[in-house]
Amino acid sequence: MKRSGATIFLVGAIVVLAVGLIGVLLYLKNQPAPTRGVQPLIEIAAMEPDSSKWGLNFPNQYSTLEKTKTNNTRTTYGGSQPASKLEEDPRLVTLFNGYPFSKDYNEERGHLNALTDVRATKRVNEKTAGTCYSCKSSNNPGLWAEMGMAEYDHMLFKDLGSKIEQPIGCANCHEANTMKLIVTNPALDEALKAQGLDWHTFTRQEMRTVVCANCHVEYYFKGDGKYLTFPWANGRRIEDISKFYADIQFKDWEHPQSKAPMIKMQHPEFEVFTADSTHYKAGVACADCHMPYTRDGAAKFSTHDVKSPLLNAEAACGQCHTDVNYVTARVADIQKQVRQTMDATEDALVAAINAIEAATKTANVDPTLLAEAQNLHREAQLRWDFIAAENSMGFHNPEEVLRILASATDIARQAQLKAVQAAGTPAILQSSSQ
Ligand code: HEC
Ligand code: HEC
Ligand code: HEC
Ligand code: HEC
Repeated sequence: MKRSGATIFLVGAIVVLAVGLIGVLLYLKNQPAPTRGVQPLIEIAAMEPDSSKWGLNFPNQYSTLEKTKTNNTRTTYGGSQPASKLEEDPRLVTLFNGYPFSKDYNEERGHLNALTDVRATKRVNEKTAGTCYSCKSSNNPGLWAEMGMAEYDHMLFKDLGSKIEQPIGCANCHEANTMKLIVTNPALDEALKAQGLDWHTFTRQEMRTVVCANCHVEYYFKGDGKYLTFPWANGRRIEDISKFYADIQFKDWEHPQSKAPMIKMQHPEFEVFTADSTHYKAGVACADCHMPYTRDGAAKFSTHDVKSPLLNAEAACGQCHTDVNYVTARVADIQKQVRQTMDATEDALVAAINAIEAATKTANVDPTLLAEAQNLHREAQLRWDFIAAENSMGFHNPEEVLRILASATDIARQAQLKAVQAAGTPAILQSSSQ
């Protein structure tokens, strides 16, 4: 059969196109990521605290980081307006009674506000430890290298302040010039080592989560030197952390009504997210959702305007999920369910506090049972706070969060019953609390 000229032309055209396409693909594959191809204009000093200097080399990352100063939009449970959590949920005033968080506790904001906000909070006073600056400034890596973390933590907040000028910046997450993501906080390095982990061996994708753990973790101040320590020696689940604090008999304060030795939890986003959440197990990193790739003309870069992904869902979720409306609606459902479950836990905690307070005022209260009730109050509240202080209203790991809240509610009700029993009230209640 004789081929027609048109068929030969068509076959030829397809071959040419295919070869061309393969060529283009090979070319693209061998290209460095776009912004990394840009030649640095200036050499950056090691641990340079001033982000505007790094910004000369990387204007897109710098200008998006700058946006965190003013991105004051609210979402249902998050966003960046510094609304008072105490006014919105007065139960917190009872739960944190006797502790500075009962006086001033606001929704958190973008990275560039960190320094202003820590200086403005009424939680800081004359005796506050310098350690509180650990997560607020790009001056830290340089100061830690210069004075050592023990010396830094030993200083008072009011004295250390003169050395701290910059809010969070490039030096908190990157090594100068190589721009590698690094662990900059010695407390994180030590906590990982205590678990037998060395971040130098982590993959790039792992570092896109671990770099956030420089700050978005639970911590405490160890000993008189207020040495910054992450309570991970037994593991990073809430049960491991609670055991750690119990073993060293640590407390942040004594609750004035229940007289229980209390623990305040701080933003454990890293611990909650990495406790086998669906996204973590699928290999998704914090930066995938909070720093998605963005385009500015020809340049493609990670936005450094770190904020609620719900304000940027097309870029944040759309890279992996085709139906962005569906997944953001799922976030709303999950958060609502977590909020309602948390309401029940808070009610149970307030009831426990009231019952224990009443018991302490009863003549002939059983001291052993009372101590048990107080310990149950501590255990219930630190579990609840692990979730309440985590900033995603459960989204980062819904299964783990609901599991912990259920156990917190259960322990709080046990505390209430134990208090009633300690006060020597009706046998019917005593038998039901066994
Ligand atoms: C799968 C996407 C995803 C991943 C991965 C993820 N987050 Fe989130 N994060 C969210 C969503 C959604 C919210 C809820 C935002 C809201 O309620 O407005 C959130 C909320 C937050 C908030 C509070 C934001 C606000 O507006 O108040 C912080 C802080 C945070 N995440 C940090 C982290 C850290 C640190 C990691 C890694 C350890 C991480 N996130 C991993 C999606 C993600
Ligand atoms: C809170 C941590 C954090 C801070 C602060 C930060 N970065 Fe990044 N940066 C990241 C993460 C995470 C990535 C993604 C890295 C990756 O994918 O390997 C990144 C990526 C980059 C990249 C690689 C290209 C890209 O956009 O993905 C450059 C360049 C960069 N950042 C520059 C800067 C500069 C300049 C500053 C200061 C103005 C800065 N970063 C501040 C976390 C941070
Ligand atoms: C050097 C410490 C530090 C590092 C590193 C850091 N954060 Fe933060 N982050 C903070 C502090 C402090 C705040 C609260 C600032 C405020 O309220 O003034 C914050 C706030 C946030 C918020 C809330 C922003 C808003 O608009 O409400 C998100 C989301 C967030 N961080 C995500 C991340 C992610 C994701 C990473 C890792 C890529 C990361 N952070 C790395 C200290 C840090
Ligand atoms: C880097 C990829 C990636 C990004 C970014 C991402 N997801 Fe996912 N998401 C996954 C994977 C993988 C799964 C699990 C596999 C599956 O069921 O699709 C998943 C599952 C989910 C689920 C179902 C969870 C469950 O337990 O059944 C929801 C809801 C969800 N994602 C919401 C979001 C939202 C909201 C965002 C943006 C804030 C987001 N995801 C960003 C990859 C991603």
